[in-house]
Amino acid sequence: MDITDDEILKLVEIIKVTSKYDFSDYTEKSFRRRVEKVVADNKLSIDDLIKRLKTDKIFLEKTVRDITVNTTEMFRDPNVWITLRDKILPELKNKDSINIWHAGCSSGQEVYSMLIMLNELGLIDKTNVFGTDINTDMIEESKRGIYKYQFNSIYFENFDTVFNSPEDVEKRGKLTYDKYFTIDKNKDLILVKDFLKKKPFFRTHDLVNDDNVFGIFFDLIICRNVLIYFNNKLQNRVFDLFHRSLFPDSFLIIGMHESILGPFSTRLEKRGLYYKKRHEY
Ligand SMILES: C[S@@+](CC[C@H](N)C(=O)[O-])C[C@H]1O[C@@H](n2cnc3c(N)ncnc32)[C@H](O)[C@@H]1O
Repeated sequence: MDITDDEILKLVEIIKVTSKYDFSDYTEKSFRRRVEKVVADNKLSIDDLIKRLKTDKIFLEKTVRDITVNTTEMFRDPNVWITLRDKILPELKNKDSINIWHAGCSSGQEVYSMLIMLNELGLIDKTNVFGTDINTDMIEESKRGIYKYQFNSIYFENFDTVFNSPEDVEKRGKLTYDKYFTIDKNKDLILVKDFLKKKPFFRTHDLVNDDNVFGIFFDLIICRNVLIYFNNKLQNRVFDLFHRSLFPDSFLIIGMHESILGPFSTRLEKRGLYYKKRHEY
C-alpha cells in the first residue's frame, strides 16, 4: 500500500500532539516502511490508523513500539568487542569505578555481552552498566534476559570469535557458554545466568526528548544501530547529549555504518571503530 508524504506527516503530527513521542526527525524511508507494516499488520487503512491513534492511547503506545526496529544480537560485530577488550577497557581498567551507558539497547543482548566481557577482564564489580531504550517492551525483555535458542546460533559464533581464538584456547582452554547461560534446547531458550542479570540498570529513555537523566558522567557510551533512523539534525542533538554526558578522554561507540559528521566531528575524535572525547572540550 502506498502512503503519501502528507499522510506520513499527519501521522507524525498526531503522535506528537497526543503523546510524548516525536518522530519528526526520524529518517523518512525507514519510518515509512515501519508504518506500512503497522498498517498491514492491523489490517487498517492509513486514515483509520490515524483516527484510532487520536482516541486510543493503548493502541498508540503499541504502535510506537511496533514502529521501532529492535534487531540485535550477542556480541554483534565481533571486531567491536575485540576492540573493546584490547583498546578501550584497558584504558579504563585503573579507574576506581567505570560507568557505561548502552543507549538504544533493544532487548539487552548488547548489555549482557558487555557484562560478560567485563567479567572476563575482572572489571565487573567496579562497573555500573545502564541500558536504555524508547521501547518499554524491550526494556522488560532486557530485564528478563531470556532469548530464543533456535535461529540464534550467531550468538555463539560471535562468542567464539571474541573469546575462543586458537591462541585464547591454547592459553586458557575453551571459554564455555555455560559459564554465562543456561541453554534449554527443549524449551528453545537461552537464559542469562542470575549473577549477570542482577548487575545492569535498565530503564526507558527517549533520545529525542530526554536528557542525561542519570546524574552521572560516563566513561563509555555505546549507541549502535540507532542513529541510522535519525536525520542529521537529530543525530547532532544526540551527539551533543553524549558529548555533555562523557568524561573528558572517554569513549563513544556508534554503529559500523554510522559516523559523526557535522560539528561534533572535531570534539569526538575518530579512532578506528570508536570515538574519543577530546580533552580540551
Ligand atoms: C536496531 S536496534 C539496535 C540495538 C543494539 N544497540 C544493537 O546494535 O544491536 C535500535 C534500537 O533503538 C531504539 N530506539 C529507537 N528510537 C529511539 C529513541 N528515540 N530513544 C531511544 N531508543 C530508541 C529502538 O527501540 C531499538 O531497540
